[in-house]
Amino acid sequence: MNVWLNGHILPLEKAHISPLDRGFLFGDGIYEVVRFFDRTGMAMDAHMRRLERSLQLTHITGFNARDLPSLCEQLLQAENLRDACVYLQITRGVAATRAHMPPEHIQPTVFAMAHAYGALDTLTTAAPISLSIQPDLRWHRCDIKSTSLLGSILPMLDGRAHHADEAILIRDGFVSEGSSSNIFVVRGNKVATAPINTDPSILHGTMRTLAIDAAKQLGFDVSIRPIEESELAAADEIWVTSSGRVLASCVSLNGNMFGTGKPAKMACAVINCMRLAVENLLVKTP
Ligand code: PDD
Repeated sequence: MNVWLNGHILPLEKAHISPLDRGFLFGDGIYEVVRFFDRTGMAMDAHMRRLERSLQLTHITGFNARDLPSLCEQLLQAENLRDACVYLQITRGVAATRAHMPPEHIQPTVFAMAHAYGALDTLTTAAPISLSIQPDLRWHRCDIKSTSLLGSILPMLDGRAHHADEAILIRDGFVSEGSSSNIFVVRGNKVATAPINTDPSILHGTMRTLAIDAAKQLGFDVSIRPIEESELAAADEIWVTSSGRVLASCVSLNGNMFGTGKPAKMACAVINCMRLAVENLLVKTP
């Protein structure tokens, strides 16, 4: 496997990062995950914007977010992948000693890798997903895509008792988001997802935006509003969106069968609509 490290593509075994890297010592870094179908990145502009924002908000300098597409392209070429997920992580870099305050001049460590993921035809139905409901233990700036992810991992571990793949996080009685995704709740023809612009405790999900667009296109009644925890049990469908999963449909909640126990109707309609949008994009970018 070849990876990207600080401007070079090299075999994983040769990619060495100092233990003094602040990403390792403090989780002082940010990341992005981009899904590729046939070498075309889904929502690449939105990923670049979010990366730029994470860099600005963390004051990490020395990497230009506009270089994301070419970095991904080089990595996919080196790995001979067409349908893949690219993971990019930028940490503040290596300092001489472990001190919370970073030195003034420090070069970021830029690391990226790609893994094979399903092709576009896997998006004909929404994948089934098991969820558990957990308290949101995270900090208040979840709009920054930070590599410090203990707050996301602990609720997932707690959900293991229910064999859950992902946790729905609850803050002050409201659904904030998933541990590594955004959450949609459906009742009848009404689709709701939590607002991002007024709430820095939610990530600006790229697939969230595509799912909202697709649901609107299908004529569903979409509202961006806070979702009470009690709405989860009463929901007809719960959707999970992320670059890795694109859109998955809840089949089990807290260990109990949810809905029919199969991916739900509206979820499948939305993912199909998202697939058609990507198909159109691929036609335009041969
Ligand atoms: N997770 N919210 C959180 C907390 C996330 O970690 C993610 C993505 C999302 C969805 O964002 P997007 O649709 O842009 O992927 C929302 C990635 C995939 C991860 O950590 O692997």
